[in-house]
Amino acid sequence: MRILKNILVTGGSGFIGSNFIHFLLNGADGFEGRIINVDALTYAGNPLSLADIEEQFGTAAGTAQRYCFEHGNICDRPFIEGIFKKYDIDTVVHFAAESHVDRSIHGPEAFVKTNVMGTFTLLDTARDFWQSEKDALFHHISTDEVYGSLGDTGRFTEETPYDPRSPYSASKAASDHLAMAYSHTYGLPLTLSNCSNNYGPRQFPEKLIPLSILNILEGKELPVYGDGKNIRDWVYVEDHNRAVWTVMRQGKAGEKYNIGGENEWENIRLLYALIGIVSRKAGLDAEKVRASIAFVKDRPGHDRRYAIDCSKIKKELAWKQEVNFEEGLSRTVDWYLSNSGWVNSVRSGEYRRWMEQNYGRR
Ligand SMILES: NC(=O)c1ccc[n+]([C@@H]2O[C@H](COP(=O)([O-])OP(=O)(O)OC[C@H]3O[C@@H](n4cnc5c(N)ncnc54)[C@H](O)[C@@H]3O)[C@@H](O)[C@H]2O)c1
Repeated sequence: MRILKNILVTGGSGFIGSNFIHFLLNGADGFEGRIINVDALTYAGNPLSLADIEEQFGTAAGTAQRYCFEHGNICDRPFIEGIFKKYDIDTVVHFAAESHVDRSIHGPEAFVKTNVMGTFTLLDTARDFWQSEKDALFHHISTDEVYGSLGDTGRFTEETPYDPRSPYSASKAASDHLAMAYSHTYGLPLTLSNCSNNYGPRQFPEKLIPLSILNILEGKELPVYGDGKNIRDWVYVEDHNRAVWTVMRQGKAGEKYNIGGENEWENIRLLYALIGIVSRKAGLDAEKVRASIAFVKDRPGHDRRYAIDCSKIKKELAWKQEVNFEEGLSRTVDWYLSNSGWVNSVRSGEYRRWMEQNYGRR
């Protein structure tokens, strides 16, 4: 079991990263070290997601400080080198990315910069800084989208050849290849995980589940791409993060692990389930809400189905999902209902302008 002390979390102010930091500092099994969150605070990063962590574990904690925030870009090599030196980093868990497929279709350049060049900068700095250190680890976070699209049957395994279809998945695929190349060529101690769609608290409301929750609550139209029959495999963000932590502590260096929910849903059926839950909690008429569903022009190159075979991590590292979909959706809806300050802060400014420009006023 690896002992991880000074962990550099990139993209810790985003959806999965902020949940990961909560998970570790709120008592994840075996973690007693310190977290350094490096985030550029793009539209998707929100310091409010970590306000409670800052208060409890940040500078106010004095000598017991276990959380440090550093505002900066992962593409900035001198800045990243400075972070490695200042905090004597022994572990990197690399979440930072441009992560929204639709945005990658409208503007791919930022995806190549952050996802490819940013990952390269981190890998190369880690190689320089760690030299032949045995106790270090670089964990690279990736997606099932690198594997392409499935027909009605089959699931992605760790051996499935890469076949990315969008600028987002192509940039993530490139970063995965670089990561594995640094492991093979330079012996960088590295693990990698490919996960299916996450849902849970603190997710930016441009993705299907939080966008739909907020639109239901505000009586707005509920856009669904194409015929609504695209299928995704959904995993609760805390189950994902427990899997990542398991791989970081026990995974074999040089290996990759698939993580998934084993929980496939057509988008339209997922939306019906969500309408049921939100309507019950907020006292709305579910039938009326269903009438707000609007089938919109499909996303170009929209992958039809993703499904992950995660038997490797289950067998080798004894991980399993703990939160079923009904429970996870219920917790997610509760979180959005009780965090209106967070919602209002992310829905203002640049985000609102981008949504209106690209999707009109919904
Ligand atoms: N969301 C999912 O369903 C999902 C599924 C599988 C894998 N992933 C992967 O997990 C990771 C995190 O995804 P997420 O949904 O939390 O993303 P997110 O968009 O919510 O957060 C990304 C974070 O990275 C930061 N960031 C972006 N560019 C940066 C840069 N150049 N330098 C420093 N920080 C930068 C942003 O400010 C933000 O805080 C990504 O690598 C993504 O590919 C996501």
